[in-house]
Amino acid sequence: MNKNNPICEMLNIKYPIFQGGMAWIADCHLASAVSNAGGLGLIAAMNSDGENLRKQIREAKKLTNKPFGVNLMLMSPYIEEAVDVVCEEKVPIVTTGAGNPAPFMEKLKNAGVKVIPVVASVTLAKMVEKMGASAVIAEGCESGGHVGETTTMALVPQVVDAINIPVIAAGGIADGRGMAASFMLGAKGIQMGTAFLVSKECTVHKNYKEKILKAKDRDTIVTGKTLGHPVRSIKNSFSRDFYTKEIDGHTTKDELENMGKGSLYRAAIEGDIKTGSCMCGQICGMVKEEETCKEIIDKIVLKADTLLKR
Ligand SMILES: Cc1cc2nc3c(=O)[nH]c(=O)nc-3n(C[C@H](O)[C@H](O)[C@H](O)COP(=O)(O)O)c2cc1C
Repeated sequence: MNKNNPICEMLNIKYPIFQGGMAWIADCHLASAVSNAGGLGLIAAMNSDGENLRKQIREAKKLTNKPFGVNLMLMSPYIEEAVDVVCEEKVPIVTTGAGNPAPFMEKLKNAGVKVIPVVASVTLAKMVEKMGASAVIAEGCESGGHVGETTTMALVPQVVDAINIPVIAAGGIADGRGMAASFMLGAKGIQMGTAFLVSKECTVHKNYKEKILKAKDRDTIVTGKTLGHPVRSIKNSFSRDFYTKEIDGHTTKDELENMGKGSLYRAAIEGDIKTGSCMCGQICGMVKEEETCKEIIDKIVLKADTLLKR
């Protein structure tokens, strides 16, 4: 799996498996567990201010001596502070989500940080390649959290054909078959969110974890399309109500935005899985066991290797 793999060589990791940044969920504990298991763990910077992010980074440094990264949420009001902290703390890798990383590219690159943006289109993939991205994560709309419009199956090969830097596939991958399929599409690595969300080391509230472990293939819904930032989450009172209000013609965009505020926190931290947003991907129906990150990664690598050797 790792022999001559450009992602492993570039990032100095054992397996080309990223744990996706997940706001309120991907903290130093999850990130260090994934890195210790040979993948690339990522701390989600989300909307946290610089000092909170610094604490997470310093804690992760105590928990692992392997490379780990930070996922920068480009729409965060603290994004400038987060970029400074990443550079000061010498974090070797960042992934970026929710936008165009152009304004921060130079600073990060000058500090020696490898920037790997999440993209949902060929256009953005080409743009970030020109800006000097080290690789891209092509994320299909099967994934949990904020989604684009194109599926992983359609997006990955088109991005692979359009650029000359390595592509990591994300969205709908949770086992060795998904990893092998991604490689067949031309990806050099994978990123998983939902599969790691249910890992033993993930500190998300147990109600949330149980909800995902019990979920079936058709249990997710996409809301927020009318606001221009669609989100995939579990069907529950919150998401059904949101969806109804989106199409009823009586609810304003501001009211909808307010409804969404704090909803992931309610589910992930407070365990309110009725009125909170339980973001997760369509692959939720396949994640059935709470395993350690090492067990998840070892199993995936073994299966993918076997399939790819056939
Ligand atoms: C609960 C949740 C929160 C997420 N938050 C973020 C985030 O803060 N930044 C980001 O770039 N991606 C975020 N994502 C996307 C993941 O990093 C990852 O790309 C995605 O989950 C992959 O698809 P999968 O869920 O099918 O494995 C989130 C996903 C989930 C499930």
